[in-house]
Amino acid sequence: MDTTPHWLKTATLPQQMALAGEVHVDVAVVGGGITGITAAYLAKKAGLTVALLERARCARIDTGHTTAHLTAVTDLRLHQMQRCFGSDATRAVWDAGTAAIARIESIVAAEGIDCDFTRFSGHLHAAKADEDPSELEREAGTARELGIDATYGLDTPFFHVPGVTFPQQALFHPVKYLAGLLRHIPGGGCHVYEQTVAEEFEERSLRTAGGRVHFQHLIVATHNPVMGESSLIGATLFQTKLSLYTTYALGAKIPAGMIPEGSYWDTADPYHYLRVQRGDGYDYAIHGGEDHKTGQQPDTFAPYAQLEAHLRSFAPAAEIDARWSGQVIETNDGLPFIGRTSERQFIATGFSGNGMTFGTLGAMMALDTITGRTNPWVKIFDPSRTTVFGGTLSYLKENKDFPVCLVRDRLHAPEAASLGEIAPGEGKIVQLQGQKAAAYRDTNGRITACSAICTHLQCVVAWNPAEKTWDCPCHGSRFQPNGEVISGPAEEPLPRLSVATGQPVRPRRKTARTEHS
Ligand SMILES: Cc1cc2nc3c(=O)[nH]c(=O)nc-3n(C[C@H](O)[C@H](O)[C@H](O)COP(=O)(O)OP(=O)(O)OC[C@H]3O[C@@H](n4cnc5c(N)ncnc54)[C@H](O)[C@@H]3O)c2cc1C
Ligand code: FES
Repeated sequence: MDTTPHWLKTATLPQQMALAGEVHVDVAVVGGGITGITAAYLAKKAGLTVALLERARCARIDTGHTTAHLTAVTDLRLHQMQRCFGSDATRAVWDAGTAAIARIESIVAAEGIDCDFTRFSGHLHAAKADEDPSELEREAGTARELGIDATYGLDTPFFHVPGVTFPQQALFHPVKYLAGLLRHIPGGGCHVYEQTVAEEFEERSLRTAGGRVHFQHLIVATHNPVMGESSLIGATLFQTKLSLYTTYALGAKIPAGMIPEGSYWDTADPYHYLRVQRGDGYDYAIHGGEDHKTGQQPDTFAPYAQLEAHLRSFAPAAEIDARWSGQVIETNDGLPFIGRTSERQFIATGFSGNGMTFGTLGAMMALDTITGRTNPWVKIFDPSRTTVFGGTLSYLKENKDFPVCLVRDRLHAPEAASLGEIAPGEGKIVQLQGQKAAAYRDTNGRITACSAICTHLQCVVAWNPAEKTWDCPCHGSRFQPNGEVISGPAEEPLPRLSVATGQPVRPRRKTARTEHS
């Protein structure tokens, strides 16, 4: 089955050179997903010079693996948010999401970007016909109380179960949209660099393998934050407020007109999400869910099988033509972290399943901060906020995995395999001269071995057979079969080992990596 996301098969992104030499700009943006690309675009529109740096290719990592519902409806329910943050803050979060969608809509119109942006209703619906609907009724009641347009009903379109309908949400093609933005960034002192890793940060400059960027302001848009100027302790503590989950998607042709176009999410935990848009003679459905903490699902084919069974339960004739997975990052209180982490550094992360909306919002807020414009949401999303919903409880729940995995994997590691047991296209943890190694055999039979110890905080990585990646069960770092970083918090690749001696082959630097999809 093709694991290239639908978006990357149906749009072309302009390709950019790597940075070679020194540049001076007003704003450096690290990370070329929706957050970073939007920030760079808005910086240029504000008359600033900008350099956007992307480790691989732009819009290929989580942004390329999204399902792109554009919604102000957050994973944290309105009534929970109201209980914990109050009515004003809840309404403000809703307004922030609505403003981000409106900004995307206005950019699409202003630049004439052909990206299928369409307003649709979003439907939050019962996962089962016999489910107690009181939570849904309560959600609609909170929405009404806060002046949010939402309607409770007993007959969600197509599924015929109780649900809450939120009008004026939207769907779009994220890669066509971002390709449109990327075309407007280079020129006039503005740059986009791909295959360029931001490696070391100082107060007003950062270093890459090929050069240096001097800046007045830094926007960290790497989804899983790189350390930037923060201290190791500060960065590690911040990391413990984030939890990385892998989520799965299937793309399928379904009979035209079978399901009304729009967005659907159910009340299951983890929830399923579905989007349907008209195709040429068929409709295209993208169905997602089956989330689990990254690196903690031993059988990574199982979520796809469960997702397919769920899709077939309501669309038996679905012709599945793609499957893919990626990460969502949750925070300890359910709201993203968007704001300044030092005088010149801005960060945006922890978007849960709302990264299209909140990534765009993060870019808008970053530009407001840099240009000195007042922004109404600064306090709510402040990365150093201390008012947390269930903070202590979820902190303990989410971080219990770290010591547990560390002890379990380091001291009671699963039996190591031998190199001979590794089939082509497969990876296994083996012992090389007493060292735990992550060994991968390519389709030509060649073995590549790396240290199996995650370069973030030393947990043992695990092979993910469905995606062909090494995933860390502690904080969700992901690595290519050859050890290069796909996504952090790890910033260093897994050190390469000699298959013959188990010794490091040579010290490795944070190099630009090959593409992963
Ligand atoms: C299957 C799936 C379904 C989803 N569905 C939805 C949805 O329906 N609606 C929604 O709103 N959100 C959804 N999300 C979430 C959303 O896709 C993400 O939150 C969002 O794409 C994050 O964007 P980003 O720009 O912050 O991060 P990314 O897209 O991950 O971009 C970060 C970039 O930073 C680069 N980078 C990292 N470190 C460095 C470095 N040191 N130097 C240079 N570059 C670096 C990476 O290579 C990467 O390209 C979904 C996610 C998944 C996986
Ligand atoms: S130890 Fe933290 S991601 Fe691996």
